[in-house]
Amino acid sequence: MPSTPVIELCEVSRRYDAAAEGPPALCDASLTVHRGEAVAILGPSGSGKSTLLNLIAGLDRPDTGTVTVDGVRVDRLGEAASARYRRAKIGMIFQFFNLLDDLTVADNVALPAQLAGMYRATAHRRAAELLETLGIDRHARAYPGRLSGGERQRVAVARALINRPPLLLADEPTGALDSASGQDVRGLLSELHADGQTVVLVTHDLALARTCATRTIEVVDGRIAADGINVPAEAVR
Ligand SMILES: Nc1ncnc2c1ncn2[C@@H]1O[C@H](COP(=O)(O)OP(=O)(O)O)[C@@H](O)[C@H]1O
Ligand SMILES: [Mg+2]
Repeated sequence: MPSTPVIELCEVSRRYDAAAEGPPALCDASLTVHRGEAVAILGPSGSGKSTLLNLIAGLDRPDTGTVTVDGVRVDRLGEAASARYRRAKIGMIFQFFNLLDDLTVADNVALPAQLAGMYRATAHRRAAELLETLGIDRHARAYPGRLSGGERQRVAVARALINRPPLLLADEPTGALDSASGQDVRGLLSELHADGQTVVLVTHDLALARTCATRTIEVVDGRIAADGINVPAEAVR
């Protein structure tokens, strides 16, 4: 039985500066990601990885081509619909966490659920559960500034998961972490994938790609240059 595609990109191109010479930031990218896959996107800096992720997240629109995520034509959404789409379908984590520093950890995690219409008390109950699952419940009432990088990224993961999104996107999630915290976040993303979460992550961290991803895509000069199923590290010996 073929599995359902969560992401379908069809010949997507994006050029930021219409007058510029040279290749666009993303050129004719086609990609299908199925439910339960964990895909790592690798490639040199400036090759178009974040552009690709932002188009999937509806944070940007392609010039040509179509982007469909969990049945939604993302490239056609207006601003308000795009925000609703992200709340319903996407959890996103970033290199620098993007937490709100003047909200507590619990408030940061509960916020997307409240914006989606959940009662404050219900959102906070769910936030507390997630923080416990992720092993950071003791920081629920702290402000993010008091936490280590690894702990902040765990908070960001909890926030990304609160609306139970069909798709988790991560842009360089270990890029700002020391090696122990990086290891911690790698383990966490692997566990989420093992639990069935569909994950697409952009990374320079080959260990992250190896431990988390079932499939690795390489982007070079705005083009998908390689797309392969990963060979498990233990099979290479
Ligand atoms: N908002 C933007 N405006 C103009 N150019 C951009 C913008 N975002 C990215 N670019 C350019 O598009 C190309 C791809 O960038 P990006 O997708 O951020 O690459 P990566 O994430 O692989 O480092 C780069 O040449 C970058 O300078
Ligand atoms: Mg980037």
